[in-house]
Amino acid sequence: MERFPIPGTFLHIKPNTTGTDPLLRRAFSIFDYDETSGVVDILYKVVGRGTEVLSRVRPGETLDVLGPLGNGFDLPLTIDHLVLVAGGVGIPPVYLLAKSHLRQGFDGNKINYLCGLTTAAEKPMADRVEKLPINLQFATDDGSLGFKGFVSELLRARLDDGSLGINPVICACGPDGMLKAVQTIARAYGKKCYLSLESIMPCGVGTCLGCVVKNDGEEKYMRVCREGPVFEASEVEL
Ligand SMILES: Cc1cc2nc3c(=O)[nH]c(=O)nc-3n(C[C@H](O)[C@H](O)[C@H](O)COP(=O)(O)OP(=O)(O)OC[C@H]3O[C@@H](n4cnc5c(N)ncnc54)[C@H](O)[C@@H]3O)c2cc1C
Ligand code: FES
Repeated sequence: MERFPIPGTFLHIKPNTTGTDPLLRRAFSIFDYDETSGVVDILYKVVGRGTEVLSRVRPGETLDVLGPLGNGFDLPLTIDHLVLVAGGVGIPPVYLLAKSHLRQGFDGNKINYLCGLTTAAEKPMADRVEKLPINLQFATDDGSLGFKGFVSELLRARLDDGSLGINPVICACGPDGMLKAVQTIARAYGKKCYLSLESIMPCGVGTCLGCVVKNDGEEKYMRVCREGPVFEASEVEL
């Protein structure tokens, strides 16, 4: 990759280096980009066959990768305050958004990153986030690190105590349940919110319609791979 990627865009990766098992590509958000070396990182969790095959790829082997694909976060630097909400392997797109805003001169004091994990043992996933000069808070389901409870509840608590600025823009990525909770909270508090959606993506380029999400209030469907994966929260029915 030659240019800094737009945060929220993704790569469609053939998980195997040879053969056809599995046949279809898998989607992964771009996690990080090194401008000197051109190296792109992803962060992923093994959940099934594709990610299991991918986890066996060794350094030096060649992968077939398409991307960057999709529409990412398009946020001006003039926003008052950036609130990033990540759940588990939803860390990458909002990490890259923080990094991208910082490198364009956005004040790190005006970025809050709320990171939701199951337990403290998952903290290494957030190592890079910790290195950014921003405000980072953790929430864990079992209370072993930071706030005890879902990261959406941490968001609600911070909105209630006013520590997220006057007019924050919320950007979130994570499991469906978390995104739905963040969408509901943003609506209730009248805050602008963008969600990076994950759906099963057979083709990744807009032709199969296997990834669609319903437009809120209209009988219209949008392709997560083409119109998304980032949508304004008010646009989508989750
Ligand atoms: C735009 C985008 C960005 C993504 N970014 C990341 C990332 O940065 N890191 C990461 O770990 N994962 C990410 N994902 C999810 C990743 O694509 C899936 O985990 C992967 O495709 C699973 O493949 P598999 O063959 O291992 O699992 P499968 O055997 O295909 O599925 C295992 C289980 O996971 C469910 N599943 C499969 N794909 C998805 C999906 N896309 N969303 C939700 N559930 C799914 C299945 O229903 C099943 O229950 C992203 C998905 C999208 C669409
Ligand atoms: S994955 Fe085929 S249309 Fe989106």
